[in-house]
Amino acid sequence: MTAEKRVLLIVSGGIAAYKTLELIRRLRERGISVRCVLTAGGAQFVTPLSLSALSEDKVYTEIFSLTDESEMGHIRLSREADLLVVAPASADIMARMAGGLANDLATTVLLATDKPVMFAPAMNVRMWEHAATQANIATLESRGLIRIGPDAGNMACGEYGLGRMSEPMTIVEAIETHFAETHFAGPGARPLAGRRALVTSGPTREAIDPVRYLSNHSSGKQGHAIAAALAGLGAETSLITGPVALPDPAGVSVVHVESAADMLAACQAALPADVAVCAAAVSDWRIAAAASEKLKKDGDGPPALELTENPDILRTLSQAENRRPGLVVGFAAETEKVVEHAIEKRQRKGCDWILANDVSPETGTFGGDSNVIHFVHGDGVEDWPRMTKQEVAERLAQRIAAHMGGAE
Ligand code: C5P
Repeated sequence: MTAEKRVLLIVSGGIAAYKTLELIRRLRERGISVRCVLTAGGAQFVTPLSLSALSEDKVYTEIFSLTDESEMGHIRLSREADLLVVAPASADIMARMAGGLANDLATTVLLATDKPVMFAPAMNVRMWEHAATQANIATLESRGLIRIGPDAGNMACGEYGLGRMSEPMTIVEAIETHFAETHFAGPGARPLAGRRALVTSGPTREAIDPVRYLSNHSSGKQGHAIAAALAGLGAETSLITGPVALPDPAGVSVVHVESAADMLAACQAALPADVAVCAAAVSDWRIAAAASEKLKKDGDGPPALELTENPDILRTLSQAENRRPGLVVGFAAETEKVVEHAIEKRQRKGCDWILANDVSPETGTFGGDSNVIHFVHGDGVEDWPRMTKQEVAERLAQRIAAHMGGAE
């Protein structure tokens, strides 16, 4: 792993291009090297000379320059970077990126890259609000590109609204956060970019009446850590969680639910997905007929609570006919014969992998920070050493990425 992080900065046309000079300085102060690609539009606002002076590198501008192509092909420009940053990202370059055009050096590099890409939009508020721009942004984000801003404020054109490029320091912070998050997987590693992940987490609550419920001790720590780890590897991640005392993980789209029925509906709404990880401790039963008013102590003794079975979300996803995620992963919390039960559970539910863990009270797994996992897959069982829930999440996310990449 190289010590110095390398950003390939693509400067497209817009008055905000002047702010990229400041951006280069701030990145270089932090030991991040910057190499610039300047579009023809960008060159109307900032000169190659100033970019080159601040980056202390050549500035690349023209795809058909034979010298550039022989000295530094567009593939090498991408290969020698850990992260591509488009700042400012004009409405035009975003449209070309969304459409997969490669009609100048910048868009050719962007189409050819397998590295993570950030973009900081900058344009007039009406261009920003236009349905075409919004659709392009949605497309780019659905492919795992990371958007920074824009901000609201007064514009060079005299109007007020959303469309100002984020301040250089905001962009620097986003870049630093990105490098910190992907550190464990090596520079620029986003092997799950373009993939969709679905994760369930936490307990469910099954209403007895409007003030009482049935639930369990799940903290949601493991499921939340898995969602964060998958997002850290670039997956577009939906986390469907029951009530927990944890903050929403950054970079993950979170749906909060209460009951198993709501959790199943939210999972189905989040499909299609390439991978589903069911880490929620879903209540196996719910009250057959929850009371609509608070139950009273009326002297006739305690009410009889009739239970009925909840839907099995893992099983439903595993056996979904046409919308089954390509890889379905479940957990098996057991207090005895952990591996034996997990192997049987994998078959019964129809999922691909089971992470079995011992949740007997003496292990401190429920609510605790560590886990001992037996990883059950089609070819056997692997015993993982005791790890923190975060480490389990990162290891699982790496396994998922390896599997998706065809390495497993
Ligand atoms: O059968 P058991 O509840 O032990 O299975 C545990 C696995 O099944 C976990 O992955 C859990 O998230 C999932 N599950 C589910 N819906 C249920 C019950 C369990 O998704 N109703």
